[in-house]
Amino acid sequence: MTKIVHSLGDLRAALREMTGSIGLVPTMGFLHEGHLSLIRLSISQNASTVVSIFVNPTQFGPTEDLNKYPRDIDGDLAKIKDAGECLVWIPDPGTMYTEDHQTWVDVTELTKTLEGAQRPGHFRGVTTIVSKLFNAVQPDRAYFGQKDLQQVSVIKRMVQDLNYPIEIVVGKTIRENDGLAMSSRNSYLNQDERMAAPVLFRALSAAEEDYRQGERDASILVAKVIGMIESEPLARIQYVTCTDLKTLQEISSIIQPAAISLAVYFGKTRLIDNVLLD
Ligand code: PAJ
Repeated sequence: MTKIVHSLGDLRAALREMTGSIGLVPTMGFLHEGHLSLIRLSISQNASTVVSIFVNPTQFGPTEDLNKYPRDIDGDLAKIKDAGECLVWIPDPGTMYTEDHQTWVDVTELTKTLEGAQRPGHFRGVTTIVSKLFNAVQPDRAYFGQKDLQQVSVIKRMVQDLNYPIEIVVGKTIRENDGLAMSSRNSYLNQDERMAAPVLFRALSAAEEDYRQGERDASILVAKVIGMIESEPLARIQYVTCTDLKTLQEISSIIQPAAISLAVYFGKTRLIDNVLLD
């Protein structure tokens, strides 16, 4: 049975009833197959699964889409029920942040590149809310998607640095049939933009193929991705970068596990995606 709680008191009471391992799947709602794959993975690996739904204001920049971020709590609850038995925690904003909130969790180095460079303060908001979720739920495992590659690295760093006894489990990126990575933000795309957006996956897959064929020059792989995306008139590239997978620093040749990450605008909608080269 799926149970829903809002307050910290009700969450704690529900957690006290649980025996065995607890998996936590943090989300901002408007759930799609990407989220559901993490929920199902957690259900398969733990005695109990907690799904949190909270659109975290502190990870949005002042000009970003906090106010229009899509929400559909009823649809989310129906999807979670279909996925299996969970405890759903929908914290009230007042529970997570009071007016005079002034305590932050900040991973200082891994957040300087890629998304962190483009979205100042974003990861400070992510790590602060995720540590609050961890503190409240005290899960044995927590589940995150490879789609947000830097988020995974930053949270793993936080877990190490703050000695959280939590295993971070990473789920693969779930895609639409045409390759577009599922994202709540895909709902912003108009029909033409939606038709154009799979170019991201085609470009990343082409670079991955060249890598498999032996290409190790990062600038050649990046140039390939940029060239393919630029052939799509509706796409506007913000960055395409090849980084070391551990440090997330840009590299020129690939000798250790790496990734190509990108952020590309279609109209006003900013999409991110990545491919692992390891
Ligand atoms: P949100 O964007 O709702 O994503 C919740 C989780 O689902 C994240 O771990 C994300 O990486 C994963 N996810 C999203 N799209 C996916 C896809 N196509 N395939 C696989 N996994 C996917 O990420 C956040 O929320 C927030 O930053 C959060 C961690 C909840 C903190 O507020």
